[in-house]
Amino acid sequence: MRIAIVGATGEVGRMMMSCLEELNLQIDQLDLYASAKSCGTMLYYLDRPIEVMELKEDSLLTRYDYVFFSAGAGVARTFAPIAADVSELVIDNSSAFRKDDYIPLVVPEINGDLLHSYSGIVANPNCSTIQMVLPLHILDKAYTLKKIVVSTYQAVSGSGHSGIDTLMKQRKGSTLKGSYPEIIDLNVIPQIGVFLDSGYSTEEEKMDCETRKILRNSNVSVCATTVRVPVIYGHSASVYAEFDRQVDLGEASELLQSAEAIQVHENSYITPLAIGNSNLAHVCRLRYGTDRHSISFWNVGHNVRIGAAANAVNIMKLHARMSGRI
Ligand SMILES: NC(=O)c1ccc[n+]([C@@H]2O[C@H](COP(=O)([O-])OP(=O)(O)OC[C@H]3O[C@@H](n4cnc5c(N)ncnc54)[C@H](OP(=O)(O)O)[C@@H]3O)[C@@H](O)[C@H]2O)c1
Repeated sequence: MRIAIVGATGEVGRMMMSCLEELNLQIDQLDLYASAKSCGTMLYYLDRPIEVMELKEDSLLTRYDYVFFSAGAGVARTFAPIAADVSELVIDNSSAFRKDDYIPLVVPEINGDLLHSYSGIVANPNCSTIQMVLPLHILDKAYTLKKIVVSTYQAVSGSGHSGIDTLMKQRKGSTLKGSYPEIIDLNVIPQIGVFLDSGYSTEEEKMDCETRKILRNSNVSVCATTVRVPVIYGHSASVYAEFDRQVDLGEASELLQSAEAIQVHENSYITPLAIGNSNLAHVCRLRYGTDRHSISFWNVGHNVRIGAAANAVNIMKLHARMSGRI
């Protein structure tokens, strides 16, 4: 199998290499690309050194089975179509193609069927959306989801490596805000992305649009408040969901427990610090909402793993199985 990673030196790119290593796949060629600044950097795949190359106009004219993009929307808009012309599948972590009707937005456990006989660009959803829709999809099937009210507590690594760098420097006394509108150390910032005319931020809008697209349920409405907190890895979310049908809490818990991608913590809870290298969507504090047609829970996931790299690698794994590559 021939694989390329664009944005290999970033938070998601490096994690993608770890997730590929964990898969124990036979990879014949692994090419790593980043910006000119990282040209010549050595990264390691299963202890094998690989030199990072500068992404140039002709870099992706080579045919790969899978090309992963984690270099932002601008790079993806320019280079992903070029790669998609010659390679089998291009899996993009940015927001560049997520809203496009003709581009599948995939969480394999939910709508992996879209990958069947598919070649071209696949969009990887937003990090906080993935960890939330994994449990909500199960509950949607059982009780038909109508409304979601969610508040997130998102880690600084969600802004890329620079987010971690900003927080660590502020912890040592720096007053530079980096890409944040306020100091993030010892603080909570209720703004991720920029504000739209609706009053919602772009991150909140992503949770709304992407949830409906992934669940293929255009009737569900989402009211999201996305908040940055001084945590390095792991997004948390307080989720309230309303359903058409009456919910049986015990049954809902059992349904969630039987899903492979979900870990339910009964009579306890989990924090971002405790999730370690988990690729699962964690659900705890499961309880009725305002009545028997609603549910509330606390949701934690590793934003760079299940929120990005692990989901992207899962897309590749499912497509590789469907196309007989593995
Ligand atoms: N972090 C998360 O939790 C998360 C979750 C979901 C989705 N995403 C998305 O994934 C993408 C990457 O995020 P990240 O957190 O990994 O960011 P990051 O840590 O800032 O890394 C960005 C990567 O893109 C590369 N890059 C930047 N400009 C480039 C160019 N012109 N040509 C080639 N490579 C270029 C960088 O290379 P250099 O090192 O050479 O600058 C680096 O490898 C973004 O679209 C982000 O929205 C991130």
